[in-house]
Amino acid sequence: MPISEKIKELMEKREEARLGGGKSRIEAQHSKGKLTARERIELLLDDGSFEEFDMFVTHRTTDFGLDKKSYLSDGVVTGYGTIDGRLVYVFSQDFTVFGGSLSETYAQKICKIMDKALKMGAPVIGINDSGGARIQEGVRSLAGYADIFQKNILASGVIPQISAIFGPCAGGAVYSPALTDFTIMSKGSSYMFVTGPKVVKTVTGEVVTEEELGGAMIHASKSGVTHFVAENEEEGIMLIRKLLSYLPQNNLEDPPVIQCDDPIDRVDDFLNEVIPENPNKPYDVKDIIHSIVDNNEFLEVQRYYAPNIVIGFARFNGMPVGIVANQPNYLAGVLDINASRKAGRFVRFCDAFNIPVVTLVDVPGFLPGTAQEYGGIILHGAKLLFAYGEATVPKITIILRKAYGGAYDVMGSKHLRGDINYAWPIAEIAVMGPRGAIEVLHNKEISKIEDDAERSQFILQKEKEYKDKFANPYVAAKYGYIDDVIEPRNTRFRIIRALQSLSTKKDTNPPKKHSNIPL
Ligand code: HXC
Repeated sequence: MPISEKIKELMEKREEARLGGGKSRIEAQHSKGKLTARERIELLLDDGSFEEFDMFVTHRTTDFGLDKKSYLSDGVVTGYGTIDGRLVYVFSQDFTVFGGSLSETYAQKICKIMDKALKMGAPVIGINDSGGARIQEGVRSLAGYADIFQKNILASGVIPQISAIFGPCAGGAVYSPALTDFTIMSKGSSYMFVTGPKVVKTVTGEVVTEEELGGAMIHASKSGVTHFVAENEEEGIMLIRKLLSYLPQNNLEDPPVIQCDDPIDRVDDFLNEVIPENPNKPYDVKDIIHSIVDNNEFLEVQRYYAPNIVIGFARFNGMPVGIVANQPNYLAGVLDINASRKAGRFVRFCDAFNIPVVTLVDVPGFLPGTAQEYGGIILHGAKLLFAYGEATVPKITIILRKAYGGAYDVMGSKHLRGDINYAWPIAEIAVMGPRGAIEVLHNKEISKIEDDAERSQFILQKEKEYKDKFANPYVAAKYGYIDDVIEPRNTRFRIIRALQSLSTKKDTNPPKKHSNIPL
């Protein structure tokens, strides 16, 4: 065959691979409002940067008539490219080929790019749209999944791993995204569950739809499985690009600092008045976050889950940070099981990838009650405590208003190796709020006073004495637990200065195989 014919043959094969399961299946995919595996990669990566691997791979199965039916690429598109000029590895499941189901060779393709990503120290992005294990392949498919899980585990904390769910993701297949750092689901077209509606009905009698069982909003608000929800795939893909802009390529690099046009000494008088005089009145801590960060830009993570704590990425003078903030607008910003898990995992992610943690504290304590105790708030609260105590990245904490009880200790306190701890002048740092404290300290005296008016007067007097003593930041400042009391309007400047001073921070933990965080 002349070389021109061979090149023609190559082009034809490439064309065939690009068509995946064929034109009609691509049309079916589009008619569901979904993009194809290759279209998703095109949108995700910088123009023209995609280099594909293993286009000519096909499955090896001969059972169930599969010796007569195979597709080039075998249902998953893999390779590398760049996002904002930085190297990333990507796999994108192709629903047009056997419903995107995973075969032995398909798993090998994914493992190949994960190995390369680890070796090169570059993030991996997986786009999921699959009917799960390829049924005809039996245990070889299950083995393929487990091989991917093992790679996810080894890559965890070494390179960022991001999962997009743009279609079905069911059965054991859900565990690969669950092992990665961030999951993004598209509204209305994606679902994740360990067992589908039919099995649920048979086993528990519950009748639920796919959307009710494992749709994007369910996992965003109830289970916390997904970190982001996108209105559509395009939005989800842009979110991945944005998220990566805050992250280093791997755990040996620092996060990328960008040129900042927002003045570092920009003061905001609004901050001096943002907190209501009445300590029981709520306010939105996100207003404070937006005010202090570069260009008011904050990428919130898990917005709909445990809204009593806010987490996400922002920049100070171009330097990426992770922000953790109690949210007085929801349950008074109390720490509960879900908030502790949410923030604990986030702090660990930031620590693994050298991203400083800025903590804004306004917390009345841990949520009391049997639901929380039976649910294991002791263990879950300990996760957050553990995460802060273990973290060696720069840690800056600002107490905005309340820092009561164990929650004072947990929320990035000086005692958990907080590097720079500031408080606003309205901060209250105490073992508990005045009402509870007086009831404990003066219970006997209160019960002896028979006259109602006299009793109320006594309680008010004692509360005032307690507040005068503790409802301020100066007792903690006296002991050096607070490094300075700062004027709220200067917070941005003080955080930037603190970050600059901590840029060369070195801290370590004792050598160990790994810690034993309470799970
Ligand atoms: C082989 C599959 C497949 C699978 C779909 N297909 N899933 N082929 N193995 N797992 C094929 C279909 O036969 C069909 O082929 C084509 O893909 C498109 O599927 P449809 O059913 O026509 O599409 P749709 O109506 O959109 O439904 C999508 C679906 C459904 C909901 C995903 O296909 C489905 O329920 N699939 C099975 C899901 C499942 O139970 N998977 C195993 C989960 S357990 P043709 O040629 O007819 O068009 C698991 C274990 C992992 O994954 C364990 C890891 C540890």
